[in-house]
Amino acid sequence: MLSGDSSHVVVGVSGGIAAYKAVNVVRLLKKTGLDVWVVPTANALRMVGAATWEAVSGHPVYTDPFDGAEDVAHVLLGSKAKAFLLVPATANVIGKLANGIADDMLSTTVLSATCPIMVAPAMHHQMWTNPAVKDNISRLKKRGIHFIGPVSGELTSGDSGIGRLAEPEEIVDSFLSLLNSLDDYSLRGKHVVVTAGGTREPLDPVRFLGNYSSGRQGVEIARAAYLAGAEVTLVDVNLEVPAPAGVNLVKAHTALELQEVLNNLFQDLDILVMTAAVADYRPAIVADSKLKKSQNHLSQIELIENPDILAGLGKLPRENKILVGFAAETAGGQLGIEYARKKILEKQTDILVYNQVGHGRGFGEVTNHVCILDSDGSIMVESSGSKQDLAKLIISNIACFKK
Ligand code: C5P
Repeated sequence: MLSGDSSHVVVGVSGGIAAYKAVNVVRLLKKTGLDVWVVPTANALRMVGAATWEAVSGHPVYTDPFDGAEDVAHVLLGSKAKAFLLVPATANVIGKLANGIADDMLSTTVLSATCPIMVAPAMHHQMWTNPAVKDNISRLKKRGIHFIGPVSGELTSGDSGIGRLAEPEEIVDSFLSLLNSLDDYSLRGKHVVVTAGGTREPLDPVRFLGNYSSGRQGVEIARAAYLAGAEVTLVDVNLEVPAPAGVNLVKAHTALELQEVLNNLFQDLDILVMTAAVADYRPAIVADSKLKKSQNHLSQIELIENPDILAGLGKLPRENKILVGFAAETAGGQLGIEYARKKILEKQTDILVYNQVGHGRGFGEVTNHVCILDSDGSIMVESSGSKQDLAKLIISNIACFKK
């Protein structure tokens, strides 16, 4: 019944008015590819109904420890969780957690959990500053429970002060970094090489054959890998967007330069993510002065084939290295997936990320739609969203990938 894989997380929701914001937290977590189970308290259900939690999480919700008693659902949910997030956490739930009280589904589940727990409190500022609550919080902190927020701002009561739930995006980022710090999700100690951008094949000193790739998706992948603890080398293939902080930068302009850079890096990398769009052909002759229209130099250009860099690297002994390719295709749907599957065989990649491009999709855009396939061609996950969110999805799938 319950999935026991490493992407299983539990979100406990208690009955604060901010419960509606937890819907967005669950939605954002789901988008990163996590398997999210929601445990609302009876009071949370008075704010947001079970049907909403079931629709956003894609799983049934249990609110009573006697629901699903045959499976001991609270123990299964808690013990299989990779991490537990309480959002919003009321003073009541924090008090129960601090004192080991287990009188409903959420409090029994959280007591069964052996995984890291993150708490996102939300309450009126007078409750937050109450000595009893402060005492409970400091006991939980001493036990290693993580906190995100609350922040200062407008409160539902109409006044303002500290007690407002942190923003859903901020909660999700903190929870993901908590997950990334765990072994299955961490890229600590790994050297990740990401290629980003598009090659430019020179024709003469002022012209080149190129493509529309801005490098945005690859830059976000490099950033996500860095945040997951990896040492990252970003190969800047004519990037049109700034590189993230903290990564090593190497430049390559053409397919041949990129091949040379990767040949030099291959021995020492653990994960190669080939996001860059590489020209399949280059001009056979590169003129050393500007080609002239008047001399009919430009009406026909002879091209020669570039090496398929990824396919070449895919043939080398790779031990535990993970090779990730990209398939940017104008074909969508089943046909696009079929092209992507063909590419897995041609290039011997461990993971292939397929995305549809052209007609306002993919290249240069801020959002993207990706389908991540493993070496058998099975779909690991499919999602759309910002390139930043998809980069986190791609990186968490790489980090969890076992050969
Ligand atoms: O064959 P296609 O260009 O669609 O393959 C895309 C994948 O192969 C990308 O990961 C790209 O970086 C890589 N590639 C390559 N060398 C080429 C062409 C593409 O490594 N000459």
